[in-house]
Amino acid sequence: MRLAVVGAGAVGRSVVELAGEYGHDVTAFADSTGAVVDADGVDVAAALEHKERVGSVGEDEPSAALGAAYDCLVEATPTTLGDAHPGFEHVELALERDRHVVLANKGPVAERYDDLMALASASDGEVRFEATVGGAIPVIATIEGMGPSHVTAARGVLNGTANFVLSRMAAEGLGYEHVLAEAQDLGVAEADPSFDVEGTDAALKCAILANVLHDGGYSLADVDVEGITEIPTSALDLAAEDGRTVRLIGEVTEDGDVRVGPRLVTANDTLAVSGTQNIVQLETTNAGRLNISGRGAGGPETASAVLADVGRLPER
Ligand code: HSE
Repeated sequence: MRLAVVGAGAVGRSVVELAGEYGHDVTAFADSTGAVVDADGVDVAAALEHKERVGSVGEDEPSAALGAAYDCLVEATPTTLGDAHPGFEHVELALERDRHVVLANKGPVAERYDDLMALASASDGEVRFEATVGGAIPVIATIEGMGPSHVTAARGVLNGTANFVLSRMAAEGLGYEHVLAEAQDLGVAEADPSFDVEGTDAALKCAILANVLHDGGYSLADVDVEGITEIPTSALDLAAEDGRTVRLIGEVTEDGDVRVGPRLVTANDTLAVSGTQNIVQLETTNAGRLNISGRGAGGPETASAVLADVGRLPER
């Protein structure tokens, strides 16, 4: 596939770096303003060697990059809320041109799922979004594999940054601000880290899961959200004395309620994953509980989910 990658954060850069390993060509690489990227640490010239260069792409012209020859748009600009601008417009343009779309950007899938599906059904292009939930772990593919109507509920640790903060605070007795700065240095936090620690990122992922399980109808506004910003190290110490710990858990219940908040779990609970790990538990009609865990954030990890999605697309 020829890929147009839009978004030059940790995920977009990793997609450009790893595309060749998966047998794909990057024919355009632009940041969220539409400027052609010449990013530090990414050999863009090599990535674009012998490929059609994006023509004159200027600021305020984010869609110009999509004039290049490509089969699939990889939308990896930062997640935005509400109208999901500008990611949604990028996706719209690509689908109107019958190109495939693979999203790492959660905004269009969480906030405008029904609009997204309407665009996809009117297009010869397909939309996939594995990377939007659980980073590297194949959550959406597993639900598709089981059949969404056979998955009755989902819960899990869906934000690597918040999990890293909680587990480091508990294990090392370190303060919240210090540990959050470490998470940002690791490149796992969102462009705006308040998305992570206030629970917004996990809530968007839960809205996406709810949309997949219930065939749409959900957005962030439907999620009851509480973050981890008010949890002091002393509360984690108290929990530890009792053999327990705190994790930021997101869930889509059997009744279709969606919520995210800090929960006490026993220290050896399956949900008590460490560091930037994510875990998703799916309750199924005939197969009981499935646990899927692994790296839930990070550039190469999330790029691996993007490129796995590209591999699932039909050839154009
Ligand atoms: N900031 C997110 C996290 C990245 O920490 O989980 C993956 O969506």
